[in-house]
Amino acid sequence: MGKCSSFTQLLALAAVWALGGCDSGPSAPREQATWEVIQSSILAANCTSCHAPGTSIARQSGLVLTEEEAYNQLVNALPRNQAAAGDGLVRVSNKGLAGLDQSYLWHKINADAHQHAQGEGTAYGETMPPGGPALTRGELEFIRAWILAGAPRKGVVADPALLADTYRPAAELFSAPSPPAKGRQLHLGPFAVAPNFEREVFYYQPLDNNADLFVNRIEVAMRPGSHHFLAYFFPDYTPAQVIPPPEVLRDLRDASGSYVDENGNDLFDWRVMQYHKPIAISQLRRLDYQLPPGVAIRLPAGSGIDLNAHYANYSDQEIQGEAYLNLHLLEPSEVQHEVEVFALSNFDIDLPPGQVTTLEKEFRFKKKRHILQLVSHAHDRMTEFRATVAGGPRDGELIYTSHDWEHAPLIDLDPPLVLEEGEGLKITATYDNQTDRRLFFGYTRKDEMMILYGYSY
Ligand code: HEC
Repeated sequence: MGKCSSFTQLLALAAVWALGGCDSGPSAPREQATWEVIQSSILAANCTSCHAPGTSIARQSGLVLTEEEAYNQLVNALPRNQAAAGDGLVRVSNKGLAGLDQSYLWHKINADAHQHAQGEGTAYGETMPPGGPALTRGELEFIRAWILAGAPRKGVVADPALLADTYRPAAELFSAPSPPAKGRQLHLGPFAVAPNFEREVFYYQPLDNNADLFVNRIEVAMRPGSHHFLAYFFPDYTPAQVIPPPEVLRDLRDASGSYVDENGNDLFDWRVMQYHKPIAISQLRRLDYQLPPGVAIRLPAGSGIDLNAHYANYSDQEIQGEAYLNLHLLEPSEVQHEVEVFALSNFDIDLPPGQVTTLEKEFRFKKKRHILQLVSHAHDRMTEFRATVAGGPRDGELIYTSHDWEHAPLIDLDPPLVLEEGEGLKITATYDNQTDRRLFFGYTRKDEMMILYGYSY
């Protein structure tokens, strides 16, 4: 304070103090650094009651979150939790996008990420703060923006307006979302998932639409216990005999976990997957995805949606699987750009046994593209998936990364990534094949895949 007090400024001292500082003069209110907001408004209010020096919890967790200690104890610090340390996580990574799912703090506060980590049998402890109240979506988004910006100590890297969103995702129990004012609500289930069983089902719901429909916003709500929810539509060229029977639950596996019946025939008609185009992908229990104004996904007249949910029940009690999908529609006259769902797929997969192999493939677009959303797809042996820009001024920039084959993150590019004609994306995936056989491209988990799905216009 003393440094900037002069006689003239002293006259305005009361005003200066009211603004909280005088570094930049009395008339310019100083914006609080994002880290300081996290520390003073989120950690101090929700965490330091336990994570304070000298407490038994500080000793147990090895973590103190008071103002003096928190930054150094988080950024690039090793977790005390053995499973997290063993998975190569740090408490908070400063590698930006590449570091989000490598940040143990993120798994500890984000109930959805956490549920997944537990679902895979790792012991990441409880969601913080234990026993609640959980952090709000605004607080989570604020911390996420800070981690994506490389977790700096100084500077404003997250919009404080995010904090106005006080919805608490972890506290929310499952409920049907209200149907869209203009659009369709589709419903999958409820269906039983036996104890210690993974059930994956598909359910085809015709839309009975005699004209094209234009979807501009997608909401998903799922009952807990889900690995993923996907919704697919079928493009105009899909052969009629491939379209599934309406309103029937189709299981991928029978109750014993087998994919084939007693005659050795597949229970599931895998041909449909070759025509599936994803319209919604969610690993979160609640998703609300809004395309830019005037941008829409076109569902052809007379089409339908194939709903797909994968539930894992690790408990000894039966659980219920259930999901809702809301499709919000635009009038055809409101549509300026139609979204294309693209799949950049490397079919050239050959993974020798007992080895780590990295594959890469570059794709160039034939016309200018605005990329809105990306999500990867691979199977069990994938340890890292990356996408970088190929060509143009942003050549080499990392725009997508996943370390989790089962719950690949869905990345929103807002603003969209603009690629000029001839520019593209390069996908790189690393596989650790610890089996004793060579693995190739294949639709089942016995083999591997390497796909980057995206929305673009
Ligand atoms: C009621 C007490 C309590 C509160 C409040 C609390 N924690 Fe914890 N925290 C614990 C305990 C106990 C552990 C160790 C067990 C575990 O990891 O589940 C822990 C562990 C952690 C760890 C893992 C440390 C490591 O390296 O293994 C992180 C990160 C963490 N807490 C963050 C937070 C954050 C962020 C908040 C506030 C949003 C918070 N905690 C609030 C009790 C608490």
